[in-house]
Amino acid sequence: MSATQTKAIFDFSDEIRLGTVKSVDTTSVLVSITSLSQLLKLQVNRLVALQSSRPTHTLIGVVQKINRSYGSAPSKLNEKPDEDFESLGETSFAGAGAEINLVKIVLIGTFIDKIGSKENIFRRTLETVPDIEAACFPIESDRLTAFMRVISEAGGGELQRLSIGHYTLDEHAEAFLSGNRLFQRHAVLVGSTGSGKSWTVARLLEQVASLPNANAILIDVHGEYAPLNGSGFQHFKIAGPSDLDAARSLKDGIIHLPFWLMGYEDSISMLVDRSDQNAPNQSMILAKKIAEAKRITLTKLGKTEVLTNFTSDSPIPFDIRQVIEGLEAEDVKMVPGAKAGTEKAGELNGKLTRLILRLKAKVSDRRLGFMFSGPEEAHSYEALENLAIALMAGTSQKASTGSGVKIIDFSEVPSDILPLIVSSLARLIFSIQQWTEKQKRHPIAIFCDEAHLYIPEGQTSELAGTASRSFERISKEGRKYGVALVVISQRPSEVNKTVLSQCGNFIAMRLTNAEDQNVIKRMMPDTLSGFTELLPILDVGEALIVGDASLLPSRVRISKPVCEPASLTVPFWDRWSEATIEPGLKKAVESLRRQSQSR
Ligand SMILES: Nc1ncnc2c1ncn2[C@@H]1O[C@H](COP(=O)(O)OP(=O)(O)OP(=O)(O)O)[C@@H](O)[C@H]1O
Ligand SMILES: [Mg+2]
Repeated sequence: MSATQTKAIFDFSDEIRLGTVKSVDTTSVLVSITSLSQLLKLQVNRLVALQSSRPTHTLIGVVQKINRSYGSAPSKLNEKPDEDFESLGETSFAGAGAEINLVKIVLIGTFIDKIGSKENIFRRTLETVPDIEAACFPIESDRLTAFMRVISEAGGGELQRLSIGHYTLDEHAEAFLSGNRLFQRHAVLVGSTGSGKSWTVARLLEQVASLPNANAILIDVHGEYAPLNGSGFQHFKIAGPSDLDAARSLKDGIIHLPFWLMGYEDSISMLVDRSDQNAPNQSMILAKKIAEAKRITLTKLGKTEVLTNFTSDSPIPFDIRQVIEGLEAEDVKMVPGAKAGTEKAGELNGKLTRLILRLKAKVSDRRLGFMFSGPEEAHSYEALENLAIALMAGTSQKASTGSGVKIIDFSEVPSDILPLIVSSLARLIFSIQQWTEKQKRHPIAIFCDEAHLYIPEGQTSELAGTASRSFERISKEGRKYGVALVVISQRPSEVNKTVLSQCGNFIAMRLTNAEDQNVIKRMMPDTLSGFTELLPILDVGEALIVGDASLLPSRVRISKPVCEPASLTVPFWDRWSEATIEPGLKKAVESLRRQSQSR
């Protein structure tokens, strides 16, 4: 940008001056507006510029409140005196009966004409505050476009920029996010149902997928992202009953998550019923039997090095039938009695019956086939590395075998164990990343759609508690290892608070529920809390973006993605208006019985 343009941005003439600063706080100022016509032009959330004490600096602010009152009469706009305006005293700078037009402005950053060879820089810091009597100017029309262009072009030197949409303030200005900062500090994407979250995810992922070495995983609970196609996407599905029948495996895009991949805590919370009075004994013997079974595998495979160091958490294949047999033996075990020749019941005799029944029921449950059945290769020693390569390698590492954005369809995983399955997978990814040599670590982002289902707040169930803990850990330590979370939910108040509080970026779409709005309000910096008033009135596809990744806290209209997710919005009235409909209920009932969709 040339030097003449530099001047053009904020070279304000006195005629357009809005007014002067009357009161200064750390991050906000009150400006008295000279005339009513100027006041009428102002709108809440518009941008203004304020003179700084340094000549090359201009402070940028957002209009937060507009107030008009009369010197002696009580404020008509606010029956209750407003504390922001009250502090000035109504007659402090105007005679009785005179109009007082006051505007509260929140300072959001500094615009600097020139630093060294760089021109037109916007910084989110406030090194100075305006002086009393400093002039305030509107940023609109050409100046707004020029300013927004500066904001847009400040891409932070990233090779390829992340374009998300256009600013509502100026629809010609494209809104870019810093891709680095968005993923470094995790992100939250919230909005009521139908506000446009899934479309925003599609928009983000499309841009991720276009990078030559992209690496992201999307957890798709309803199978709504199937339409996202193109060279950058690869689709997987957690095996459902029909995939088991057809013996589909990883090469067909079908993922089996064998039970032996689960850590100790996860397997105990799934297999042992804590309300059983024998639960502690059951957990202990189960862990012991599992360790024995793992040892057998390792011995058979000659993995001596692993054999000496493995723990109950180590993902090593074992035969679940061996474990059940071992438990059955303990359950009926008799030991020599006190008197020679007599026998008495062993320590665990009869205490494992319910555990064994539970285990057997799980093993034969077709819905859990992705854990306990499946082709032999899914239970081989190499299964885990194959899975890791399929899900965690960047585009170029996978060469012809796959792409950088991996969409995993969890729609056939039973909802009661969904938290456990998703968190086990996430934790596995995190652990493998931790164990990857530092120089070879390839950063990966996990997009968690419908996060309230598997990263819940509070102890809704034991399974959910274990799941949330895994995600808490990733949210706290992920940054160091290059694992980013993008938490997507329609109910932020039901998503784990620790995970949310670790996120440094917010993309908030229309939110109508007061409880959910409050969660977002609490997470926003104080000065921007006024911004959240917009949450309920945003349009579909509009978002407030605040955080590290966005230079300005801004209202953005998200661009439509090229491939639209199947959002499952059913047009009731239209469907009811159709003359004929295809019968489907008979087949549905059969599918329900068979626990399988296809055929
Ligand atoms: N950026 C956009 N521009 C225009 N229309 C949009 C945009 N985003 C979403 N929509 C419309 O809104 C509908 C719902 O969007 P979407 O499926 O993304 O909602 P959602 O927030 O994910 O809802 P849910 O929480 O129920 O999953 C879409 O089918 C589409 O018609
Ligand atoms: Mg959605």
